[in-house]
Amino acid sequence: MKVSVIGTGYVGLVTGVCLSEIGNEVICVDKVKEKINILKDGNCPIYEPSLENFIKNNISRGRLSFTNNISEAVKKSDIIFISVGTPSLPNGQADLSFVEQVAMEIGKFIDDGKIVVNKSTVPIGSGDWVSMIISESIDNNNPKKKVNFDVVSNPEFLREGSAVEDTFFPERIIIGSSSKNAIDKMLELYKPLIEQSFNWPDDKARPISKSQKVPVVITDLTSAEMIKYASNSFLATKISFINEIANICEKVGADVKAVAKGMGLDKRIGPLFLNAGIGWGGSCFPKDVSALTYIASEYGMTPQILNAVINVNKEQRLKIVKKVQDEIKIVKGKTIAVLGISFKPNTDDTREAPSVSIMNSLSKLGAKIKTYDPIVKERPDSLTEKVKICRDEYDTVKDADILILATEWGKFAELDFNRVKQLMNSHIIIDGRNLFDRDHLKSLGFRYIGIGR
Ligand SMILES: NC(=O)c1ccc[n+]([C@@H]2O[C@H](COP(=O)([O-])OP(=O)(O)OC[C@H]3O[C@@H](n4cnc5c(N)ncnc54)[C@H](O)[C@@H]3O)[C@@H](O)[C@H]2O)c1
Repeated sequence: MKVSVIGTGYVGLVTGVCLSEIGNEVICVDKVKEKINILKDGNCPIYEPSLENFIKNNISRGRLSFTNNISEAVKKSDIIFISVGTPSLPNGQADLSFVEQVAMEIGKFIDDGKIVVNKSTVPIGSGDWVSMIISESIDNNNPKKKVNFDVVSNPEFLREGSAVEDTFFPERIIIGSSSKNAIDKMLELYKPLIEQSFNWPDDKARPISKSQKVPVVITDLTSAEMIKYASNSFLATKISFINEIANICEKVGADVKAVAKGMGLDKRIGPLFLNAGIGWGGSCFPKDVSALTYIASEYGMTPQILNAVINVNKEQRLKIVKKVQDEIKIVKGKTIAVLGISFKPNTDDTREAPSVSIMNSLSKLGAKIKTYDPIVKERPDSLTEKVKICRDEYDTVKDADILILATEWGKFAELDFNRVKQLMNSHIIIDGRNLFDRDHLKSLGFRYIGIGR
């Protein structure tokens, strides 16, 4: 099929590339010229494992192209995905200005029979709203033109760091629309994924066996939009819940790692998203929980669980600052090493990263902060310029009065702690992700402070 994907960020780029890999002709569009130039050269502007290989292969097969020209993409495609960002406004509401801009552009060039798919995470009711914007744009630009088009909600659940695998092996596909024709076209597009019939390299494990079908939920637009918000809010709730349990564990003398293990063995609970730590961040959970809270407030509701989930998360970051103060008393002038900048391992995304807000708070208190991340090499705009970005872990911990582990990159667990001990000024480690081997560190003479243990 002929597909275009508008917005080549973590979601749009991965979606477009994977759809080309399973045999479609895909045009990826972005308004940022430099991004498109990088992609045209077969390179990847974001860090996402194995994505670059798929980009190169599909460009050379002639199935994948990149452009800044939305008109060309809309005219040539049967299915048009919108996958631009929907960040938070200061009041928590989702900022739909990028979606609106794209819908207006689509309206200028759309013809009969095309399907517009909302892959961006958008508030409830956005499907109808996008349809209205496109219709208005058609009327404004070609008043005499009659165009039949459909809008579908097809929320995305990929995780940064494993986005390519998540796209080829989804746990479910959600299709929300009132149009049978649009639903049928989407099922045709996704058939190779639903039936797991695409080719996959023999040397790479398949998370889903070839005989297994991917579940598809076909529903109305509103329910599809709600599935996405409810799913992310539930995952954030699970993390805030275990963080609250961790805080109680600290008081009563229990070990949250053992508690989470014991809880997670119950199939009704499950082991995932039960790692206590410094809280959730990233480009999705913060804005999606806030947006759902805002939507509820528009209907005169006070979503008490969601509000608590947000508050527990805010406090969890402050708790790290408090732990630092408890340990070293005077923060001013002290050197603090922070390992990890990205909001989670295996991504270069620093949006709403807990590490950034913790570093900013400690810097405000007068600490000298040094940090290192295996992938993030440039200072995020949200991080104060006072923080020094170091070349490696050992450069970071040199002369530090305290070390904070902020992002659980696997390589940090392999640190040579004898060397770390020699380099640090004093030997206090706050393990914000309960990653390190506590007993080993204690045996080396470190003071170890974890979360909830
Ligand atoms: N990142 C994730 O892990 C993830 C997972 C699931 C869903 N989502 C949702 O998917 C959507 C996209 O997220 P993302 O992380 O890929 O965003 P992103 O910020 O990484 O990428 C968005 C892209 O859209 C481009 N863009 C903006 N306006 C444009 C326009 N008018 N024309 C062409 N391109 C335009 C930007 O230049 C950017 O490259 C969001 O709604 C997000 O909530 C994200």
